[in-house]
Amino acid sequence: MIQKPRGTFDILPSDTPVWQFIEKTARDTAANFGYGEIRTPTFEATELFQRGVGDTTDVVQKEMYSFTDRENRSFTLRPEGTASVARALVENGKCSDTLPLKLYYMINCFRYEKPQAGRSREFYQFGVEMYGAADAAADADVIALGSEIISKLGIKDVSLHINSIGCPDCRPKYRQALYDYFKAHEDELCDTCKQRLETNPLRILDCKSPICSAIGKDAPKSIDHLCEGCADHMDKLKNHLDEMGIEYEIDTNIVRGLDYYTRTVFEFICTAIGAQSTVCGGGRYDGLMKQIGGPQMPGIGFAMGITRLILAMEASKAMPETKHEPLLYIAPMGAAAQCKAAGIVAKLRREGVYAEYDLVARSLKAQMKYADKINAKYTLIIGDNEIENGKAILKNMQESSQVEVDFTDMAALCEAMK
Ligand code: HAM
Repeated sequence: MIQKPRGTFDILPSDTPVWQFIEKTARDTAANFGYGEIRTPTFEATELFQRGVGDTTDVVQKEMYSFTDRENRSFTLRPEGTASVARALVENGKCSDTLPLKLYYMINCFRYEKPQAGRSREFYQFGVEMYGAADAAADADVIALGSEIISKLGIKDVSLHINSIGCPDCRPKYRQALYDYFKAHEDELCDTCKQRLETNPLRILDCKSPICSAIGKDAPKSIDHLCEGCADHMDKLKNHLDEMGIEYEIDTNIVRGLDYYTRTVFEFICTAIGAQSTVCGGGRYDGLMKQIGGPQMPGIGFAMGITRLILAMEASKAMPETKHEPLLYIAPMGAAAQCKAAGIVAKLRREGVYAEYDLVARSLKAQMKYADKINAKYTLIIGDNEIENGKAILKNMQESSQVEVDFTDMAALCEAMK
């Protein structure tokens, strides 16, 4: 038997209602904040992620699903959505549209990671990006959208962690401080981090090896190395969040694993779901668009992992009621009755009614059992006599009451089921 690739999963009809609920909640909330949906290709030129996400990140170095096509060009299944959105805005000439640009997306992403609860190789994100607003008010507005979605999903025990990782003005000094610190521990670092020490010491802070992360705990903090502009930005963000009633904690350990971030970075963390506890991660990326060949344009956004949201909803006992039960089940006896049932059901469905009838030649007894199992509210038994008279018994399965109805009259049938 051929099996699905490791780290992927099927989403079965019993699971899809909660996915649809999350997707609808996220879409409707984003629309209320003024966001429009963008859809981009599943694969992009590998260079987009190398330049956008960053050559020294785990995502680019270890986790990308890259392949060459028949003409020997390198493409990559998207590991995230931010770089693709930046590319799409530049390529479609959207950067001169009225600002801010606000976009959301619902996508599958691919990363070659070690699968565990809340971490898979194909996973799903709901993400938003806002372009053209450099002010900290935009950071607060984006965070408020994330917070609103999480709260509408009924997730409890979630906390917002914010940090600032500075900008190109103050980053060099911080980078030097990190370099000096890690240089003193060089021998203990993993091989990848030994390289990162020279290329990008900030990335050592999100290394998953236990030794590197233990050393990273005492490393210098970005927040202690901010320039005046970055410090003011952070203060303004805090004031806005306070005013909006959004609780947060400053967490100097939040550095995020992607290179494009500047200034604000944040995560919504739900500790009830285990090690992969970040349900939403994001931040500001003022240099990304230029980095991929577009104009200089500030941006900020976030993405939420749908499977982690589901885990958090389960932990919060917030799984939505997702019943979808037929109003009517028609139990035909014989071929002529089955054909008649097909006609009635077709008409009801055209009216938007969920109705079913037997397609697998069950006995009447088995049909009634089935109607019970699928929780049909009404049943209608049709045989040769009923066809001749045009009348049949409509049974209310919940109240065990019944009436005779003219099933050739759709209005009368619908009225009897009200
Ligand atoms: P990220 O932190 O790499 O950021 O991913 C965002 C969220 O996607 C994570 O917080 C997590 O919920 C989910 N996620 C990530 N990897 C996996 C995985 N292997 N399995 C399951 N869920 C996962 C980004 O992707 C940025 N593009 C977010 C962003 C948008 N920043 C600015 N704009």
